[in-house]
Amino acid sequence: MPTPSSDAAVATQEQISAEIAAIEKAHAAAAVALPQPALDYPPYRSSILRHPTKDLHHADPEGIELWAPCFGHQDVDALEADLTIQHSGEPIGERIVVTGRVTDGDGRPVPHQLVEIWQANAAGRYVHQRDQHPAPIDPNFTGVGRCLTDETGTYRFTTIRPGPYPWKNHQNAWRPAHIHFSLFGTDFTQRLVTQMYFPGDPLFPLDPIYQSITDPRDRDLLVARYDHQVTRPEWSTGYRWDIVLTGSHRTRFEAEGDDE
Ligand SMILES: [Fe+2]
Repeated sequence: MPTPSSDAAVATQEQISAEIAAIEKAHAAAAVALPQPALDYPPYRSSILRHPTKDLHHADPEGIELWAPCFGHQDVDALEADLTIQHSGEPIGERIVVTGRVTDGDGRPVPHQLVEIWQANAAGRYVHQRDQHPAPIDPNFTGVGRCLTDETGTYRFTTIRPGPYPWKNHQNAWRPAHIHFSLFGTDFTQRLVTQMYFPGDPLFPLDPIYQSITDPRDRDLLVARYDHQVTRPEWSTGYRWDIVLTGSHRTRFEAEGDDE
């Protein structure tokens, strides 16, 4: 297979899907576990040029912590967890609650954790200069929220279910609907970023970002599940998605710079 070009929108979906299938076959045959996600994942074109090829520069963590942000309850308003009340009117789309627990590898809750989310609106459009595709901007939806986990490690957001959106990885490339999550630990060096998906999305097999997590069990851990206990009568549907920070069942996080 020739080295793929990093130029956007050159390959067809069929070519990208064939590359994904070839990597999946190699993964299944590999005797050793591969890094998750695969940082050098050619079907995800921009990973070719921006994945690290050398050891990272190690900064003095104590020096960084002197300048790191520190979040307390007084810094994060409880209303910031509701993305549907940030403007004068109601945003368009399916209102949802997304909740879950943040735990360590032993199942212990991680309380007072800053959880930030950002996402596209119901039409799949971001309020961002780089997103100029012809889907409507919702004047009542910015798509950014944050909260702190409670004593049980639980976070909870009310938002609008995002739509899928096109991107320029290849011809007719579409991202499955997702919500970006960022978690801060106790200092700046512990920031983790990942994406939460919705169950049953038909775009999963076609998406090279989702597929760059080559272990299917790890991919499944990024998919929220519908939870009727979270659904509120006459108000919103509910999804549950737990985040595990360490251990073999941990949630897979992105390399720095991934932003699609
Ligand atoms: Fe996105």
